[in-house]
This record gives sequence, structure tokens and C-alpha cells, in this order.
Amino acid sequence: MKVGVLGAGQMGSGIAEVFALAGHRVGIFDVDKSQIEKALRNIRWSVEKLTEKGKVKDVEEVMSRIEVLPGVEAVRGDDLILEAVFEDFNVKIDVLRKASEEANDESIIASNTSSIPITELSRAVRMPARFVGMHFFNPPVLMPLVEVIRGDNTGPIYFNRAIDIVRGLGKTPLPVRKDVPGFVVNRILFRIFNAACGLLGKYTVEQIDSVAYYELGFPMGIFMLLDYTGLDLNLSISKEVAKRGLRLECPPVETLVKEGKKGTKSGAGFYNWASRPRIMMVGGGPDPKEIVRPAFEEGKWLIREGIVTEEEVDEGTRLGLGLKEGIITLSKRLGLS
Ligand code: 3HC
Repeated sequence: MKVGVLGAGQMGSGIAEVFALAGHRVGIFDVDKSQIEKALRNIRWSVEKLTEKGKVKDVEEVMSRIEVLPGVEAVRGDDLILEAVFEDFNVKIDVLRKASEEANDESIIASNTSSIPITELSRAVRMPARFVGMHFFNPPVLMPLVEVIRGDNTGPIYFNRAIDIVRGLGKTPLPVRKDVPGFVVNRILFRIFNAACGLLGKYTVEQIDSVAYYELGFPMGIFMLLDYTGLDLNLSISKEVAKRGLRLECPPVETLVKEGKKGTKSGAGFYNWASRPRIMMVGGGPDPKEIVRPAFEEGKWLIREGIVTEEEVDEGTRLGLGLKEGIITLSKRLGLS
């Protein structure tokens, strides 16, 4: 398959790598040339890591499948065009409009949006029936889940084809049956972020992250994950979902972004990333139930709305967020009902 990835940030570069690792030919484009150079460096670093671990044989073979595209029009004729630009409605609309004009009648067009309903974006796409959400998790190469979102205009054939493409990458697809802002896993994650943010002041970042890591079995602290996914991205997501009725405010994130602290990518955020931060075991933190309760309620809402099943919520949060237990099982074990 020939794949065109538009946007070479953390997600775009990771997604391009995933397709190249699965044997596909990938073209990648970004308006920012330095972003492309950084993306190629990051992909090489990651493929070398996988080689050290015996998961990949030949770094150069994988790298040779990745080509830098001179412009959006170069996706012409690609089997899959995947938009992974910054989480801003107008930027995405602009790129999707241009890309879909170039798409041939066989192409599938996908967006890796974290939060914007696919139906809204589909209005800019020339062939809306061929447009789906394909939402990867950071880092795409390590996280096994991809949400596949069906917008109101997505044709069932193309939705199923997108699911097959995800399976072909060796990933687990999570079919999202209703196009709600933030879809499934991020809606749950937003609740976790918000709960943690609301506890700041009463508790420190270190105390909250200690509970998340040592008591809830999260793979990293909550504020560490905010830094890892990017505070600027988090802020953009909050703005996009707020326009759609989901208020997720975390003033400290806004302050840090204003100071130029975007998390891991800028070297500082809630943590200082000059050297790799560790989560210390510290006492006096919040009751773990306070962190997961809103996420549990969100999970129950998603199930009630028929968007996913209980098993899918659990699988989605295990594979998309690296939790040891899915959020429903975990919450019930803590005594929530
Ligand atoms: N490629 C290849 N190897 C990588 C890598 C990458 N991109 N990133 C890390 N590694 C390697 C590390 O170098 C390390 O190698 P080593 O064993 O040789 O030292 C190994 O993988 C293990 O990594 P770490 O030691 O850093 O730590 P972990 O075991 O904790 O694994 C993790 C890292 C998989 C990121 C894990 O911490 C995790 O699952 N975190 C949660 C991530 C998460 O929740 N992602 C979703 C965020 S939400 C999202 O993306 C949605 C979007 O819309 C916002």
C-alpha cells in the first residue's frame, strides 16, 4: 500500500514509522522543513531501538520506505492519506480539503484527530464516504491500539477497510460507533487529567503521580503523561472540545504553555526533562478513587450511549493508555459502583 502522512510532528512521524515497519511505502509532508528533519531523526532512533531488541532486522530497509514529499499534492494516487497536523479545526480542514482534491477514487482519507468529530471534518473532504477517523496513541510504534471512528458520512465499506488496515499493522482496532468529541479513550483520559488537575494545590504533582503510578498501576504519572503527550496539544484539545460542550480546564497547563513549557518536547513542563524524571514514592497523596471516579462515570456514559461495550472500554484503556487493568475493572476493584 502507498500511504501519505500529512504532518510530521510526534504523531505524524510515529504513524509514518508504523506503516513503514509494516512494509508499506510512506510519503511524509510538513510545511516546516525542520520538523521533517526532526521526524526522520526520531524515526531512525526508534527503528534502531527496535533493532537492538531484535524486533526489526534492517534499519536502512525500513528507512528506505519513507520518502519526504514536496507538498500536499504529492499524495496524489496514494491508497491511504492520513492527516496528522496540529489539533486545530481550521488547520485540519485546510489540509483535508487540499489532500482530498488530490485523492483518487480509490483512496481512503483518514484523520488522526484526537478530539474533533469526524462528521464535522468530513464537510471539507471531497469524498466524505471515504473519510474515517484513525486515532493512534503516543508513541504510535509502542501503543497497540488504534481507534477507528465512523462519522455520519463514512461508508461502511471504508470503515471496515480502515479496520482491516489497522489489523494489518499488527494493531488492535477499537471501532467507535458514534462520533462524539474525544471519541472513547481520550474522553476517559480527559477525565483523569481533569481530576488530577483539580487535586493540585491540595496535593503536589509528585503526590498525585505517586498514587497513579504505585497505587493505580498507571505506566507513568498523570502529569508526566501530560508532559509526554504535549501540554500545547492538551490545551488545543481542551479548546476544541470546549467548543463542543465538554469543558476541561486546567489553568496550570495554560500557564506552562504561555511560559513556553510544552512538556517533553520543549524540555520542561510539570517536570524538568533535562534528565529523565522518575516517579518517587511519596506519601500523603489523594484517595485513588478521587482520580478515577470521573473516568469511571465517563466510561459508564459511553456504554449507556451504545458507543462501546464495557469490554471495549477496558480493552481500549489497557491498550491505549497502558493501564494494567481497564478503567471499569480498576474502578470496581476500588469499590466504585
Ligand atoms: N520507539 C522505540 N522504542 C521506544 C520508544 C519509541 N518511540 N519510546 C520508548 N522506547 C523504548 C525506550 O527507549 C526503552 O528502551 P530500553 O529498554 O532500551 O531503555 C523502552 O522502550 C521502554 O521505555 P521506557 O523505559 O521509557 O518506559 P516504559 O516501559 O514506561 O514504556 C511507554 C514507555 C510505552 C510510553 C509507557 O510508559 C506507557 O505506556 N505510557 C503511557 C502512554 C500513553 O498513555 N499514551 C497515550 C497518550 S494519549 C494519546 O496519545 C492520544 C492523543 O490523542 C493525545
